[in-house]
Amino acid sequence: MKKFNNIITSSPVETQKLGTEFSKLLKPGDIIALIGNLAAGKTTFIKGVLKGLDYQYEVTSPTFTLINEYYAKFKVIHIDFYREENIVRWNELGFQDIVNSDSIIMVEWADLIPDLIPNINYKLLFKHEGEDKRKIDLK
Ligand SMILES: Nc1ncnc2c1ncn2[C@@H]1O[C@H](COP(=O)(O)OP(=O)(O)OP(=O)(O)O)[C@@H](O)[C@H]1O
Ligand SMILES: [Mg+2]
Repeated sequence: MKKFNNIITSSPVETQKLGTEFSKLLKPGDIIALIGNLAAGKTTFIKGVLKGLDYQYEVTSPTFTLINEYYAKFKVIHIDFYREENIVRWNELGFQDIVNSDSIIMVEWADLIPDLIPNINYKLLFKHEGEDKRKIDLK
């Protein structure tokens, strides 16, 4: 989709706004992979997505919780594979049930355990393009 291809944002606010725009495409059951280095803007983008889904509270990285749940316009699950790379642990946490639910699932660092999520609906790549510039590309 052209609107989300090779977009350069120049601030966190712009990245959030792109996320809000992107949220309009989403429906329950969609799985979104967010791929890119540390501080590339994945969590910032997710904040914008949740804003677009009418979530009014704080959104933070699931660093210790591993799985964050938000009751937004739709239920949204936020996961970060960087915090736990062991596939067995994710299965213990009921990952397969989550994937098969009708939540919107947003996975940061999805490329670290590709076997866990076979059917990705949207893959978003994030890259540093300078101090406050990030390139975001929907594949
Ligand atoms: N254009 C931009 N878009 C997004 N973030 C930006 C931008 N410019 C600067 N930043 C800064 O970069 C950082 C992005 O952090 P964020 O938590 O979104 O990254 P992340 O990709 O989720 O990293 P991690 O892999 O550690 O979870 C923030 O400190 C933010 O202020
Ligand atoms: Mg993050």
